[in-house]
Amino acid sequence: MLLRTCLALAALAFTPASALWPVPRNVSLGDELLFIEPTVKVTYNGKCLPTIPGYTHPPGAKFNSRNIVRAGVARAFKAIFEDNIVPWMLSKPHSQFEPELPRRRSKVVSINIIQTEEDDDTTFRPLAGELDESYNLTLTSDGVATIRAASSIGCLYGLETFLQLFFEHSSGSSWYTPHAPVSIQDSPEFPHRGVLMDTSRHWFSVDDIKRTIDALSWNKMNRLHFHVTDSQSWPLEIPSLPLLAERGSYRKGLTYSPADIASIYEYGVHRGVEVVMEIDMPSHIGIIDLAYEDIVVAYNIQPYQWYCAQPPCGALRMNSTRVYDFLDKLFDDILPRVAPYSAYWHTGGDEMNRNDSMLDPDVRSNSTEVLAPLLQRFLDYAHGKVREYGMTPFVWEEMITDWDMDLGEDVVIQSWLGGGAVKELAEAGHKVIDSNYNFWYLDCGRGAWLNFGPDAFQQFYPFNDWCGPTKSWPLIYQHNPRAGLSEEDAKNVLGGEVAVWAESIDPNTLDSIIWPRASAAGEVLWSGRVDASGNNRTQSNAMPRLSEIRERMVARGVRAAAFTQQFCTQGGTDDCRHMAV
Ligand SMILES: *[C@@H]1O[C@H](CO)[C@@H](O)[C@H](O)[C@H]1NC(C)=O
Ligand SMILES: *[C@@H]1O[C@H](CO)[C@@H](O)[C@H](O)[C@H]1NC(C)=O
Ligand SMILES: *[C@@H]1O[C@H](CO)[C@@H](O)[C@H](O)[C@H]1NC(C)=O
Ligand SMILES: *[C@@H]1O[C@H](CO)[C@@H](O)[C@H](O)[C@H]1NC(C)=O
Ligand SMILES: *[C@@H]1O[C@H](CO)[C@@H](O)[C@H](O)[C@H]1NC(C)=O
Ligand SMILES: *[C@@H]1O[C@H](CO)[C@@H](O)[C@H](O)[C@H]1NC(C)=O
Repeated sequence: MLLRTCLALAALAFTPASALWPVPRNVSLGDELLFIEPTVKVTYNGKCLPTIPGYTHPPGAKFNSRNIVRAGVARAFKAIFEDNIVPWMLSKPHSQFEPELPRRRSKVVSINIIQTEEDDDTTFRPLAGELDESYNLTLTSDGVATIRAASSIGCLYGLETFLQLFFEHSSGSSWYTPHAPVSIQDSPEFPHRGVLMDTSRHWFSVDDIKRTIDALSWNKMNRLHFHVTDSQSWPLEIPSLPLLAERGSYRKGLTYSPADIASIYEYGVHRGVEVVMEIDMPSHIGIIDLAYEDIVVAYNIQPYQWYCAQPPCGALRMNSTRVYDFLDKLFDDILPRVAPYSAYWHTGGDEMNRNDSMLDPDVRSNSTEVLAPLLQRFLDYAHGKVREYGMTPFVWEEMITDWDMDLGEDVVIQSWLGGGAVKELAEAGHKVIDSNYNFWYLDCGRGAWLNFGPDAFQQFYPFNDWCGPTKSWPLIYQHNPRAGLSEEDAKNVLGGEVAVWAESIDPNTLDSIIWPRASAAGEVLWSGRVDASGNNRTQSNAMPRLSEIRERMVARGVRAAAFTQQFCTQGGTDDCRHMAV
């Protein structure tokens, strides 16, 4: 009893930072102090789990729950003991923000991870909603931590939350949490929580992609939409169609080999991040013209504005057996290679311009009457292929909203044009994910990448891009994909993705464009826009926690951008409130 009192006094003497992003659904934090050491005992389902720094899983598409959890523990330990933060930047200037270091310390004595159900194949390549991602976490005052989850991936989420409880002491050799005892029950609101990366407008290395997967997993996000090709470049090596990458990449070496692709997908599986690859069709694919003849039309056409949204245009010929032979080869090469790791394949379908088929010698028409049946045949074929390999197709919304195509009930529609489309699609019974460009396009608002003519200044001042302004984190945080839907229809909204179209983003700026703004969407998608009492979550509540996850991401090797001034992250929250609030 006496010991308890001393602990409580020790805890009260300093002002701890605020913790936990995304905020758990149900959380109770105390204010007692516990230290933790790298020698802390870890068990998994009652058996000791050796904690070897840097442990990584063996390669291959065979996944073992214990290895997944073990690697998760190694990553959590690295975050706590090597890449942690001394939280001065989250505390009042010159305040006593950290505890004294007593000789006798209360410590975390064990971390017990209990997985209550066995993983199965769907754990590692789940359809939205198939995987139980929930976890419970407790940490008692006397230092016993327990993570309980139904799946290995739930265990990983428990570990991510656990590590966020701890800080490094400025002495450099002590680590502590000011938050004991802890009780958390947590599960996501939406099953699909993603980021779209575009590796065609700029090339990104395998490490850039894996680093993005890391940060996704720290934010409890679980999908990487891999928009791998477009009309600008084709970095994806297809061994049965070697000219695609040989001629379609920006230069030799800026490609993804089959081994690269397998390693990206595996890396994701081990972190609960399912990769969804997209080869956009039938538009956004002109680059094929450099490799194989008579597959596309309108590549590099002038003026491009009549044929596509940005140069160099190009779309599949819509009535050619040659194209179907080509697609057979393409799908039979790539689909079986990714099917072991992912339940989804994205067939694209955005921004199809009817004029392209005017130039197609087999069609010569831009009328919907002529084109719609050809498009329907194409989708039936492509989605048939995707299903043949045991995957579920994704498409962009225009396939429904512009073309009124007849798609299978399994197909997931990705909406980006805003204007109530998510609501309409969900009410019509479609499964839908939300990437509304008015909120969740992270590339917007940084100026045009096109060059303008001689009267540029008069005509185009101040050279905006098409979708400005910049989507600030408060704007991203404000967006609720399920807004205005009945409880029943809301279930059709599986989640959302923030998009990182890469016209003017390359590996040098990637991290700071995505993070921590994607985290804001991540919290909406995990915790829900609306809290348990039915109120919208507020910026004032989120800001200190977002500041903290941002610092943790930087410490863990992701160059997340600053989004407010240091004065505000140092506890000036009340002063940093807008006057009107
Ligand atoms: C939240 O947790 C507390 C105690 O841990 C529990 O009493 C309460 O029922 C939980 N609430 C919800 C909504 O799960
Ligand atoms: C987590 O706690 C909740 C509430 O006590 C319980 O219903 C649920 O079964 C627990 N989950 C696991 C995996 O133990
Ligand atoms: C199609 O081309 C015509 C010119 O032939 C142009 O006026 C029209 O705007 C183009 N349509 C689209 C959707 O770009
Ligand atoms: C498509 O091609 C077939 C066979 O060449 C032809 O009979 C048909 O008229 C074409 N359809 C259109 C819409 O051009
Ligand atoms: C179809 O082509 C005609 C003739 O070039 C053009 O005037 C018209 O704008 C085009 N329609 C669309 C929807 O692009
Ligand atoms: C939550 O915010 C939305 C707009 O973002 C608003 O329409 C709604 O009324 C708010 N709900 C509550 C309970 O304040």
